This record gives sequence, C-alpha cells and structure tokens, in this order.
Amino acid sequence: MIKHFLNINSVGKKNLKQILSLSKKFKESRVRKKGSKILHGEILGMIFVQPSTRTRVSFEIGMKQLGGDVVILDHLNTQLVRGETMADTARVLSRYLDIMMIRTNDEKDLTELAENSSIPVINGLTDQTHPCQIVGDILTFEERLGAIQGKKIAWIGDVNNVANSWIHAAITLDFTLNIGCHPQLPPSKEILSLIKKPRSGVNIYKDASEAVKGTDCVITDTWVSMNNKNVSKRKRLLKPYQVDAGLMKLAHKNAIFMHCLPAHRGEEVTSSVIDGSQSAVWDEAENRLHAQKGIIAWCLSKNSKI
Ligand code: CP
Ligand code: NVA
Repeated sequence: MIKHFLNINSVGKKNLKQILSLSKKFKESRVRKKGSKILHGEILGMIFVQPSTRTRVSFEIGMKQLGGDVVILDHLNTQLVRGETMADTARVLSRYLDIMMIRTNDEKDLTELAENSSIPVINGLTDQTHPCQIVGDILTFEERLGAIQGKKIAWIGDVNNVANSWIHAAITLDFTLNIGCHPQLPPSKEILSLIKKPRSGVNIYKDASEAVKGTDCVITDTWVSMNNKNVSKRKRLLKPYQVDAGLMKLAHKNAIFMHCLPAHRGEEVTSSVIDGSQSAVWDEAENRLHAQKGIIAWCLSKNSKI
C-alpha cells in the first residue's frame, strides 16, 4: 500500500505517533552529529502552486541530509499552467520520482494527485489543511511541556488551514483544543461536523479570553491566508483576537506561544509576545526540518533504519 501523508486524521494515531518518534530521533541524531543517511539517492519532487520559505527549504535540506535529493516544480514553469491535469501530472511524475509533495490553493489538487500517483504524496499545505506544520508543532510542544495527550491548547483568530489540521490533531491525539474565533468567520461545515462529534475535545468560544484561560499553549496565525479575499473585512473582524501580553497572562504561567510563520507583528500577535520569553516560534520553525524527515522516512518505510 502507498503511504501518503495527506492529513493528520487520515494518517491516524498510530502512524502519527510513529512519525513524531522518528522526527525526535532525527533531531537527536543531528544534535549528536550522528549521521542519518537512510536514503540512497531517492528524489522528492515538490510542486509549488503557492509560495513557501520554511516548507521548501526544510524539505530540501531534509532530503539532502538523509541522502536523497529534490526537484522543485514551480507550477508556472510546468504544463499545469497550460491546463495539464493533476492526474496526468501524477502518472508521469510517478515514473521519475520516488516521492512527491504539493503545496496548492485547492485541496482537490492534492486528492487528484494522490489518487493517480504510484508513489507517496505529501500535503505541503492546501487551502484547507497544513498537516506537516502540525508534526513540527507537536514536536515543539512536547519538547517544552511533555506529552500533548490531556493538555489544553488555544487557537486564537482565523480558523484557517493550520487550525483545521490542529483540529484533526486534537481529535486524533486526545487533547483539548479551545478555538477563539469571530462568529462571522466560523470553521467550515465539514470541520464543524467533526467538532460536534462526542468527545472531539474541541470547543468554540467567541471570546478570546475564555478560550485562552488555563491553557498550556496559545497559537495564532495570519488573519489573511494565501487563498483569502476580503482582506480589510477580515482584519476588522479579527482585531479583538490579537494575541497580546494581557491575553497570554490568562494562560497557564508556563504556557508557550506558537505561530507557524510568516507573522504580522501588530496584527495577529504583538512583538512583545512573539519576541518574548514564552515564544517558541524559532524552535517551531527549526522543528519543521526534523518533522519533514520523520514524514519522509514514514512514507518511504525507512523507519527501521534509524
Ligand atoms: N509555516 C510554513 O509553512 O511556512 P512557509 O509558508 O514559509 O513554508
Ligand atoms: N495560514 C497560512 C499559513 C502559511 C504557512 C496561509 O495559508 O497563508
């Protein structure tokens, strides 16, 4: 069976825990300057329909450190831009590559690519989800505060692709996720149906303070994601959801702050929080590298070799 990494909930608890454990081992081996060359020239192809800094660089460096290599496919320089389908692209690329990643503005592209691929496909962000980010985030949380199971996390602001993958994670790994969001910018119907299931562990608040009270970690993200329109309306509605020092005080005193980056200081978060002592954002960015290796090793079933 092909091991795609499409979403946190489709991968499931056992595999997610395995990916997290692999990622931790890759980080340790790097800290101890031990080699982790589990690959023998395997090639990852990365299709970018949307821009990226962290995802692109961490996958490229990760593949090279593991003993593989990458091909970057900026969609504007491929036949995708002239209408070649994702399905045909998948069939062709499967003949050249060992593994693929796609970042796109439509989750349907991801599905079509995976359904027609004979090699593993990784979701590098869609309009709906960003599961690779969540692996790096959980790694960061657990380094600082121990096992995430049973802990309380707050997501404040826009319920976007990263938030949706956090919702998938809360359901998969049994922790509480409090969402503080504007009633006019609620989760999608599909996500709401998951939240409404008994024991989902996800609670929705319209008041950011209520959502943050007593939590171990406060997370936010840009108010305007790559696929969003109505920029000024979104910024107006989300103003009360800025994560500032006052809001952080309501969380547990050891709570950390996380943000997937890129950040907009003075919008979703103040400088005093993102550049302050509770912020874990640089470890979080670094952990994308270790997490990508865990995901690649799992997809290619190289786990026994570390
Ligand atoms: N967090 C994240 O995915 O960053 P990039 O958009 O730079 O890849
Ligand atoms: N929600 C953001 C995440 C960027 C990594 C976006 O989609 O633009």
